[in-house]
Amino acid sequence: MPIHKPLAAALLLATSLSAAAQSRQETLLTTDWKFSKGDQPNGAKPEFNDAKWQTVRVPHDWAITGPFNGQNDAQVVKIEQNGEKEATLKSGRTGGLPFVGVGWYRRTLAVPTLGKNGQAILLFDGAMSNARVFVNGKEAMFWPYGYNSFSVDITPFLRASGTNTLAVRLENQPESSRWYPGAGLYRNVHLITTKGAHVPVWGTYLTTPEVSTSAAKVKLKTQVVAAGAKGLTLQTNLRDASGRVVASATTPVTGAEVEQDFTVASPRLWSPETPTMYTAESKLLAGSAVQDTYKTPFGIRTFKFEKGKGFSLNGQPRKFKGVCNHHDLGPLGTAVNVAALRHQLVLLKGMGCDAIRTSHNMPAPELMTLCDELGFMVMVESFDEWKAPKVKNGYSQYFDQWVEKDLTNMVHRDRNHPSAIMWSIGNEVPDQSTPEGPAIAKRLQDIVHREDPTRPVTMGMDRYDDDFKYGIAAVLDIPGFNYKPHRYADAITKLPQGFLLGSETASTVSSRGVYKFPVELAKNKQYPDNQSSSYDLEYCPWSQIPDIEFAAQDDLPFTLGEFVWTGFDYLGEPTPYDEKWPSHSSYFGIIDLAGQPKDRYYLYRARWNPSQPTVHLLPHWTWPGREGQVTPVFCYTNGTSAELFVNGKSQGRQTKAGTGATDPQTRYRLEWKDVVYQPGSLKVVAYDAQGKAIGTEEVRTAGKPDHIRLVADHSRLAANGEDLAYVTARVEDAQGNLCPEATNQLHFTVSGAGKFRAIGNGDATNLEPFQQPQMHAFQGQLVAIVQASNAAGAVQVKATAPGLKDGITQLTTSK
Ligand code: GAL
Repeated sequence: MPIHKPLAAALLLATSLSAAAQSRQETLLTTDWKFSKGDQPNGAKPEFNDAKWQTVRVPHDWAITGPFNGQNDAQVVKIEQNGEKEATLKSGRTGGLPFVGVGWYRRTLAVPTLGKNGQAILLFDGAMSNARVFVNGKEAMFWPYGYNSFSVDITPFLRASGTNTLAVRLENQPESSRWYPGAGLYRNVHLITTKGAHVPVWGTYLTTPEVSTSAAKVKLKTQVVAAGAKGLTLQTNLRDASGRVVASATTPVTGAEVEQDFTVASPRLWSPETPTMYTAESKLLAGSAVQDTYKTPFGIRTFKFEKGKGFSLNGQPRKFKGVCNHHDLGPLGTAVNVAALRHQLVLLKGMGCDAIRTSHNMPAPELMTLCDELGFMVMVESFDEWKAPKVKNGYSQYFDQWVEKDLTNMVHRDRNHPSAIMWSIGNEVPDQSTPEGPAIAKRLQDIVHREDPTRPVTMGMDRYDDDFKYGIAAVLDIPGFNYKPHRYADAITKLPQGFLLGSETASTVSSRGVYKFPVELAKNKQYPDNQSSSYDLEYCPWSQIPDIEFAAQDDLPFTLGEFVWTGFDYLGEPTPYDEKWPSHSSYFGIIDLAGQPKDRYYLYRARWNPSQPTVHLLPHWTWPGREGQVTPVFCYTNGTSAELFVNGKSQGRQTKAGTGATDPQTRYRLEWKDVVYQPGSLKVVAYDAQGKAIGTEEVRTAGKPDHIRLVADHSRLAANGEDLAYVTARVEDAQGNLCPEATNQLHFTVSGAGKFRAIGNGDATNLEPFQQPQMHAFQGQLVAIVQASNAAGAVQVKATAPGLKDGITQLTTSK
């Protein structure tokens, strides 16, 4: 077909413009990977025949498919930081999954013609672990720490023509972790090529040295690799969230770094409540020819940590309402998925959470971007060990040689994120108890300050007496204490900083929907079924129930807030059942491993989310056999008082105790301790301080299981092959009441524009695989994760079980 001339010219122009502008090409290496578990002596060689290897998509976690087995990484160890005095056999400590050993990944690399000044870089967001990167048979890079991002210039290893072979060997040692670390290329791998002058990886550093409501000063430092080019200029536009240019600068490039200063009038400030983003869009020009383009998303905000005043963001005092999270995504394992991270953050947001601690390692870059966008302040953490080991083959073996490189990469990658609010140089490192500890802390803190003078440094300290005896507590910008609310009042008299952070708090244990009697506060409580009670009164020898931290935070003005251990349950560390297989995932989560809130979610929500009423009752009210027995009832509410009714009969009104109360529980929970169980209705009406009703909740005794009800967290998905819906299946009686003890095995079929991806029920003892479309309900519920395809259309999700009516729900995917 003849092309109309002006159109052809326009097309040509557009093509040549974009060719010039696209001297940079960035490709995510997701497909066409071959994978093999076990070592392969010739795995790096280009001629190696990998046809029989498994074809996988990266991000990929080789161990999450299991099977679970207590022998995987079984360890006879004494966990010193848990106060253990004797070594015992721990089987589920790292999740009972086969992550130990060697794995190989291979694929061909199609690299565009680079020319004489071109460069090809591989950027690994994280590779677990001891990554050896080979290009055309030659080792180009070794990076041991599996959580860090690193890049490698592969230009010298490329062939002049023809295809290139990329091979990556990974090796996880036994006893190298205190939790499930995942295995393999579990984060993205990027191929970045440039043809001449360019901005290198993480090549910009943007700060906002002065901010007021009328104007913000923005400083952008850009690294430039001239690659032989002369007469370069850097042209940068700052755009607001709607794309409008709000400030610009054009600066000649006279060295390896270009500094540009801008003023943004009436800036919209970033905060968890108003996560407003801007973007610095830079063009590197030789004359009028675009050599490279580079985007730096950023936010404008100020924060301060002040002696006697604590923390403020944009001038407003606030305390961190934070959670610590591990990096695994429950049933999906550690393979990063944006939709899964978003799902986690949305649940946390609903609870009123405003901060995340990436315990105890560098997060996926996607998490940082989501925290910018959704509004979370992040404590970006680096290490669980320094020189002194906690586990036999942990980071301590690399510390001397790698710590500076690891910290530098961490800071360079994340220092432009407004969400990044502080850096953590470590968690509970045993070096706290050595005379060298403070000097090491100072050295690491200085490295971080050198790379980013704008954010403070903290760490999680757990050895209170030693922290003062040897002096590490005084070194840190922000002293962070793990599980020490009872020492805060003493600590402040010794701390030059004048404030302190609950860097890790609570570690209360519970199993979703499981209630144990009698109801009592208990340390290290264990039951024959390996579950913990959801009355939220069970904790570890070193930890507390949430209320104790609440009281300390409320009563002591110098506290900066808290990071609860943990937001989500995670794979491994099944305390208090570390020695009791088949427990293999944690009980600490406010939300279970499958993404379902436990009762505690509402205890935190009542405190952290004042804008919405919370009225939550526990336990469930289906107790055949408990008729006539005392069955305590708790209400988690942000009301001040509430009246409880059993079958319409008042059980009295409870009111929260005031600040002076000696028992913190009475300040944060409403408790009816003497309720006698009768089947029927349990109902609560909550009131605010003025006596106005703010909400009600009713739980009814369930009859026998009748049907499955499916509830999707959202029903419209992006048709991008990655988006996820979390579909909760509830076993209900004929009236729609949850059958809270149901254990039916549910089977899923997903058809249309989506597929079944994974399943979980939140039971820390469950050995059923996450990848089969069936599982037993745990306490009446489970969650199936459905993945959108690349096609737009309808997705039917169906759950069946013998004796139950089917559950059906429909999702749609769109482009
Ligand atoms: C802390 C530690 C965490 C986790 C937690 C469990 O001491 O920092 O990683 O082990 O205990 O309570």
